[in-house]
Amino acid sequence: MALRTIRMLGDPVLNKACREVKEVTPKISTLISDMLETMYDANGVGLAAPQVGILKRVVTIDIGDGPLVMINPRILASDGTQTAGEGCLSLPGKAGQVTRPNHVVARAYNEQMQEFEIDATELLARAICHEIDHLEGHMYTEFVEGEIYEVEDESEEE
Ligand code: NI
Repeated sequence: MALRTIRMLGDPVLNKACREVKEVTPKISTLISDMLETMYDANGVGLAAPQVGILKRVVTIDIGDGPLVMINPRILASDGTQTAGEGCLSLPGKAGQVTRPNHVVARAYNEQMQEFEIDATELLARAICHEIDHLEGHMYTEFVEGEIYEVEDESEEE
């Protein structure tokens, strides 16, 4: 495993749509391990492959319940809304208010390329939406309500 460099807002790789993963090759396995290590090293709750410069549909998330790997994730259903401060490892030390669904049902593949479904609320629902946006080339800064502000606690960056 190795730490990868996190790309910062303004890097064009963050504005590109990612390609689907067809199979978990050794290269993809290494990418996943490296993404987890990089996310934990940065104290983040989520990381998407384009944030380490790879345009593949892979995300890692850990909101404190253990690692969640989602390959080719998609949202099947969502309802409700939540508005809260949201941050991103590609814009460290900053946050902004973003409205997201409060509940999502998502489907993805795990590291063994087995399909699974996840029912998520609150922070996990927010993290899944945030990471899927990255796979489409979008940053939360596009959806911020009001100003982007400085934060001292960087523990909820994605
Ligand atoms: Ni992010």
